[in-house]
Amino acid sequence: MEVLMNQDDLIVSKTNLKGYITYGNEYFIKISGYTEQELLNSPHNILRHKDMPRVVFKLLWDRIQNKESINAYVKNKTKDGDYYWVYANVTASLDDHDNLIGYYSVRRKPSQNGVQAISKLYKELLELENRGGVASSLKLLEEKLHYAGVSYDEFISTLQK
Ligand SMILES: Cc1cc2nc3c(=O)[nH]c(=O)nc-3n(C[C@H](O)[C@H](O)[C@H](O)COP(=O)(O)O)c2cc1C
Repeated sequence: MEVLMNQDDLIVSKTNLKGYITYGNEYFIKISGYTEQELLNSPHNILRHKDMPRVVFKLLWDRIQNKESINAYVKNKTKDGDYYWVYANVTASLDDHDNLIGYYSVRRKPSQNGVQAISKLYKELLELENRGGVASSLKLLEEKLHYAGVSYDEFISTLQK
């Protein structure tokens, strides 16, 4: 069953460099269905939903490891096996000397149209990925963006409008 995010609430979490959760705000804990204790020091893929194509996480990690940020639609699984969609902004945390020290993600309620469009795209990407691996899904995504004449960032921000 789908759980909808509240319009005005934000889900916030932080991870170390390996993607292990170091912080979660109250709403993150509540919507995930886990206790704070269960979440802290767990890998962030504890929330991974099987409908998510791997290529999205590849883009995410490539970006943040490069000290950049990325926006992405993510379908997450709760402890009870329900799911919730988020529109995430994932960013690198840097110290005063510009060294990477971790990552954090702030998520808001996604637009309904965005979720509808991205669900279709993710399904296609996943099917291809299951047959030909991430290289295949990445190729399809790049082709689609190229055909539409937009960057990934432009595409995603248009969906959320
Ligand atoms: C700050 C941060 C937040 C993340 N949030 C999520 C999330 O909410 N859901 C999710 O499935 N993966 C999230 N990830 C990505 C996971 O670390 C992981 O790459 C992903 O779940 C895929 O897991 P897998 O490589 O084991 O398949 C996040 C990563 C970072 C650095």
